[in-house]
Amino acid sequence: ARDSRCDRYDITMRTARVEIIPGLLSTVNTYNGLFPGPTIVAQRGRAVRIRQTNELSVLTGVHLHGGKVPAAHDGHPTDTIAPGASRVYDYPNNQSAAPLWYHDHAHMIEGDNVYSGLSGAYLVTDQQEQSLPLPHGRYDVPLQIRDARVLSDGTLYYTRAQDRPHVLVNGKERPRFEVAARRYRLRIFNTSVDRPFDLRFADGSEFVLIGTDGGLLSEPVRVQSLLLGAGERADVVVDFARYAVGGSVVLVNAAALATENADVMRFDVVCTASDSSKVPGKLAAVPPLPKATVERNFVLAQDWTRGALINGNVYDPNRVDVQTRLGTTEIWTITNADPAGPPPNFHLNHSFHTHLADFRVLDRNGKPPAPTELGCKDVVRIPPGDTVRIAMTWSGYTGRFVFHCHQLPHSEWGQMATIEVV
Ligand code: C2O
Ligand code: CU
Repeated sequence: ARDSRCDRYDITMRTARVEIIPGLLSTVNTYNGLFPGPTIVAQRGRAVRIRQTNELSVLTGVHLHGGKVPAAHDGHPTDTIAPGASRVYDYPNNQSAAPLWYHDHAHMIEGDNVYSGLSGAYLVTDQQEQSLPLPHGRYDVPLQIRDARVLSDGTLYYTRAQDRPHVLVNGKERPRFEVAARRYRLRIFNTSVDRPFDLRFADGSEFVLIGTDGGLLSEPVRVQSLLLGAGERADVVVDFARYAVGGSVVLVNAAALATENADVMRFDVVCTASDSSKVPGKLAAVPPLPKATVERNFVLAQDWTRGALINGNVYDPNRVDVQTRLGTTEIWTITNADPAGPPPNFHLNHSFHTHLADFRVLDRNGKPPAPTELGCKDVVRIPPGDTVRIAMTWSGYTGRFVFHCHQLPHSEWGQMATIEVV
């Protein structure tokens, strides 16, 4: 519904029976019965108000990932919605076009809740993006990719062990998508609770990266692969005109385990279509950050008795770990102190995420960042032994915000901390 000041939505969290694997019904947690939840499209500068009603039997709480949102509406881990209760979230959308997502964030159960189905896409759009000749409408498609383990009776089983061999795209196992022989814009979300994906087309073909977590890049980059840690996004344009009608191409996960099917989804080219879209050489103005005046170091490590740690601590929602003044630009050096183990070892990775402020990746082990790490980011992979430097400006709102590992079994296990902006 629209009124003069904001777009309003009512969302009910409830269980639903869905067909993840053909012929098998699974009971999942949903927003409005959809798995994943409804895609919300927001206009820059126009507020969105969402009333969330919890008809589940667990505590929930909703965070708009990538959103610049006042602390009271940010979905703080302890700011939860009890079963039977509801609350309103207000999102100002004073930010550039970007592929955001909303997902559960209830203290120490966010991984269980997200895995059970509580996530959805939230696309902010703006006039600058709309002025570009990119594919739009039915040719602009969000793909939310995650892993799962579905038992033979349909149970969506949450195991912290990495035994989750089913790859789901928009809630279906390894779907087949009928496309026209033309360009498509694909907004790719890694919504897994901890698994990184290394996405490529099986024929090795190139495609164009146009944006990352926080919006469009300044200019497009041709790539053959997308390495996305848990929580990362990539905005790409793929030209299916290279295939004849009747042809098909499979998107694969080059990081699949040897025991797993590497296929993610298949694109079948079923018809021709006119195509006036193109990828312009200049996409957006990504402004440079001011000079940083504060530097901080964060060490991520796991301790099998104490939990997953940031600088030696497990998360305490009542503790302020760092404090900064509104408007401060900072450089954070983040190190994964865990040694790499034998595969499957993605539980030894970390995926570092900040609320409120998005960041630029300055370097990884002293080297320039990969294409998927260009532009405005809010998640960055930190594999064992790596040191990554990021820079951000803490602007917009004062209050307490969390930063954490987006491998949600880790954040559930304490790998989260608080920055207070004063
Ligand atoms: Cu995507 Cu604190 O979360
Ligand atoms: Cu982690």
